[in-house]
Order: sequence, then C-alpha cells, then structure tokens
Amino acid sequence: MIRILVAYATMSGSTAEVAQVVGEEIAKSGYQVDVLPLSRVKGLEAYDGVVVGGPMIMGWHRAALRFLRQHRKVLQRMPWAAFVVAMSLTQTGETGVENALVTVDDKLPRPPQKEGRLNFRERYARLTNYLRPILQAARPARPASIGVFGGRLEYGRLKWWAVLFAMLIIQAPPGERRNWPAIRAWAAELPTLFGA
Ligand SMILES: Cc1cc2nc3c(=O)[nH]c(=O)nc-3n(C[C@H](O)[C@H](O)[C@H](O)COP(=O)(O)O)c2cc1C
Repeated sequence: MIRILVAYATMSGSTAEVAQVVGEEIAKSGYQVDVLPLSRVKGLEAYDGVVVGGPMIMGWHRAALRFLRQHRKVLQRMPWAAFVVAMSLTQTGETGVENALVTVDDKLPRPPQKEGRLNFRERYARLTNYLRPILQAARPARPASIGVFGGRLEYGRLKWWAVLFAMLIIQAPPGERRNWPAIRAWAAELPTLFGA
C-alpha cells in the first residue's frame, strides 16, 4: 500500500488542523496516511510521498525549513509537496516562483494600499518572499505542488512578543481565515500529482 506522510510545524495549533484535513483528503484515494508533527518524524524511508506544512512565523516556521534542509536528499527521490498557512499576503499579480506549481487560497491576498507602490509590510508579505526560502531550503529537491492558505490568529493563545509582532508587522486582524474548501481541493489533487 502507498504510504504518505503529512508532517507539520505549528505554533498555536491551526496548522495541525490543516494537516489533519490534508491527510483526510489524501486518504480518500486509498493511500495510507500518517499525520505527524515534525518532531515525531523519525525518517522518511517508510513513505512513498511527503507533505510538509508550516505557518508563516516571521518567515516559514523554522522547524519546517530545517526539515526540508535535513531531508532534501531523500526528497529528491520521492514526490513531495509543501503548504504554507498565513494571515497576510499582498496581492501583486505574482502567481508563482521559480516555475513551481503554486496554489493560493483566493480569499487570502489583499491589494496594496497604494497601487504600484508597496509599503514595508506589503513588500514583506509578497508570495515570492514567502516561497523562495522554502524552495531554497529543499534544493535540489523540487516540490510537486505548494499550497498557500489562510490561517487562524488568536491573541489569547500567544505569548506577548508574538502578539506584538503580529500587531506591528503583519497587521492582520485576528480571527479564523482557514478556507477549508480551498485546502481540501488542493489536497485532493496531491495523489494524482504524486502518482505522476
Ligand atoms: C509571531 C507570529 C508571526 C507571524 N508571522 C506571520 C507572517 O510573517 N506572515 C503571515 O502571513 N502570517 C504570520 N503570522 C500568522 C500565522 O501564520 C497564522 O496565525 C497561522 O495560522 C499560525 O499557525 P499555527 O496556529 O499553526 O501556529 C504570524 C503569527 C505569529 C504569532
């Protein structure tokens, strides 16, 4: 039986729930799926494909980047995908980076305040700025697909410094922005992409 690993990093739990749903969707194709936090992944040898998920936490979650760097040799030999959970994304017209297949939740991007001139925060929250470090960390392995989805921000679950960062830099209003149909639709494509 084909075995797929969905491994995730999280700070306050919302990415874990996204990973569960991604796993559920892949399992509908008859694959055996393990959904695990990165810290519990012993190795990738037992798997035929991998999905790595992480939130944007001042850049993609460091543990997720480290995981890609650590396993890039193995990932070169198997199909894999990545997903990003975020609260802010600037609408710039960018649709991808370095020819990677990228799917963006269309409810996430926000237009810049002034057309044609991005402020610091808007430049930071560009798609290419989010995704390039992910591709770099995995190189020469290349993902079959990258999904970018809205997340959940709840100040009550965070330490004071995280609240401060979220307020000052991301300036995204707290709340639930996970778009389950978009997440499910992306995950449902993965078995075919992996098969190919
Ligand atoms: C300290 C901190 C930094 C964050 N940095 C970003 C960011 O750079 N860009 C963004 O779009 N969202 C950012 N977010 C929002 C998170 O990506 C979002 O809340 C996500 O759903 C959190 O996932 P988790 O619940 O799995 O930790 C940040 C949130 C926190 C608390």
